[in-house]
Amino acid sequence: MKKVLIISSSLRGGSNSEILAHEAERGAKDAGSEVEFINLKGKDIKFCIGCLACQKTFKCVQNDDMAELIGKVQNADVLIFATPIYYYEMSGQLKTFLDRCNPLFPQANKFKDVYLITSSYDGSENTADRAISGLKGWIECFEQSRFAGALVGGGVNEPKSASGREDLLQKAYELGKNI
Ligand SMILES: Cc1cc2nc3c(=O)[nH]c(=O)nc-3n(C[C@H](O)[C@H](O)[C@H](O)COP(=O)(O)O)c2cc1C
Repeated sequence: MKKVLIISSSLRGGSNSEILAHEAERGAKDAGSEVEFINLKGKDIKFCIGCLACQKTFKCVQNDDMAELIGKVQNADVLIFATPIYYYEMSGQLKTFLDRCNPLFPQANKFKDVYLITSSYDGSENTADRAISGLKGWIECFEQSRFAGALVGGGVNEPKSASGREDLLQKAYELGKNI
């Protein structure tokens, strides 16, 4: 059974990317995966300070919620990150989360498939290209991981608008079902 960890990074109520991430969760559960869904809202995750102490100790010198979350990242077979598109990139909170995974570098731990789910006002196909590219940079540093796919949820702006987008909900469900 695959262990799937979903990290939803939007901090707003009625988050579109989170609605899509929950559909992926439903699909993954239907496929028999063990799924944990984590929202970064209310989590204490400080910026990486770049001291590199973690490269010797495999631990961050900062004591916050990342201490628990990083263990979950390490143990997952599949990671699904969900983010709103902010200025044609991933959210700052997701980038901070990725930076704070540095204690795992370069152990790479077990092989992981990594997916990205985005939501944005812009419905163009390439809206999430920079966010995908940023995530691929992170994946490149963990050799045993690979980018496994993205769901680009374009054309959703107001909170909860993804709920009315059957096309995106279906794609999100399938992403989860097929991992
Ligand atoms: C600071 C900020 C920057 C944004 N930048 C973009 C953008 O560059 N392109 C775009 O299409 N939408 C942009 N949006 C709109 C959001 O991506 C959109 O509302 C999305 O559905 C939010 O996802 P969420 O509900 O999961 O937070 C931006 C929104 C905010 C708050």
